[in-house]
Amino acid sequence: MYRNDMTRREIERALAERSSEDRRLIQSLQNCDRRHFLHVSLKFAGMAAAAGIVPPHAFQLVNVAHAAAAPGEASEPAFRFAYVSDTHLYARGLDHRFAKATIKAVEDVNALDPQPDFVLFGGDLAQLGRPDELEIGQQIIGEIGAPVKMMVGEHDWYLDMGEKWREMFGPDHYSFDHKGVHFVVLNSVVEKDFWTAKGYTPEERMAIVAGLDDNRQSPFEVGEEQRAWLKQDLAGVDRKTPLIVFSHSPLYKLYKPWNFWTDDAEDVQAILAPFETVSVVHGHTHQLLTNRIGNIHFHGMLSTAWPWPYAPQGLPEYTVQMARSDPFNQFDGCGDGQVDVRTGGRMDKHYNLWSRNPRSVTAQELETGTLPGPRGYDGPSY
Ligand SMILES: [Fe+2]
Ligand SMILES: [Fe+2]
Repeated sequence: MYRNDMTRREIERALAERSSEDRRLIQSLQNCDRRHFLHVSLKFAGMAAAAGIVPPHAFQLVNVAHAAAAPGEASEPAFRFAYVSDTHLYARGLDHRFAKATIKAVEDVNALDPQPDFVLFGGDLAQLGRPDELEIGQQIIGEIGAPVKMMVGEHDWYLDMGEKWREMFGPDHYSFDHKGVHFVVLNSVVEKDFWTAKGYTPEERMAIVAGLDDNRQSPFEVGEEQRAWLKQDLAGVDRKTPLIVFSHSPLYKLYKPWNFWTDDAEDVQAILAPFETVSVVHGHTHQLLTNRIGNIHFHGMLSTAWPWPYAPQGLPEYTVQMARSDPFNQFDGCGDGQVDVRTGGRMDKHYNLWSRNPRSVTAQELETGTLPGPRGYDGPSY
């Protein structure tokens, strides 16, 4: 461990010791079973702290004033949930860097005190939808202590059209009620059949969808069948009941060439609009991304694997712009986070950026337009 008063020689010795420990740890991970997992991953957390990386329980708010409750509202949230998203796991074992990043996220949420009511997994567990990728994901995510709600991403789906994922995790769309809030999980990455006529194999289909800007694929949509289900699901819900919707792609139209887009977004928004308090939490874009359309608040989740750059046409005006990430730092621009659901169902979103200060985006900022927005960033914006 480092101390502030160490001499240069002591620091060098500590670094040398850490790198040999690092090597031993990675070797032991190659034969890691579930029982061994926690022991090893706790060591990882210790190493991360020693290396000066933000410690795993660093979910503190950056700006306490901004995080204050609205007038007349309780200062403590009604409940909290955590999120982990877009792990993009390869079938190369637990020593692959994306697997290690996922283990780090699991340690983050397990270190939260108090524990979240549940953890949302935001989709893209696998990279190429392979059963062994999904199984590695299930093994790592299975170490989360709190209940986990799973959502599907396109990388999980297009090898076998979700067969393995559904077998492992259940339905791709469902709803549940928790402490007065109605939650809906959607599969927003439905694509129209672009493969049959062209004779693409399942592997080719998966590779096309996995390409960010491969225009041989169709745009994402929720689709008619799920929209009908959503209408029916919400028919019995009082319009004053707060709604929180989880979708993999943003439920609005940001940038079509990268599928930062849901093609039937307006139709889905129209189904949600009659409700007084609606928030959407999405994955897929791997970045801080915030939007508000009418009464609907939208929050993008961080990825544990890599940050996407911002789409070229610009940002929604409510987005707090991320600085460009350091390409030499695996964890920069990556992370996980937490959501405080306040009494009344408004949502404050906390981004736990692994190598930068955490950042919060509160419902109050979104509703009053007091977010710094892209203008709050000092650097150039293109
Ligand atoms: Fe992703
Ligand atoms: Fe995705």
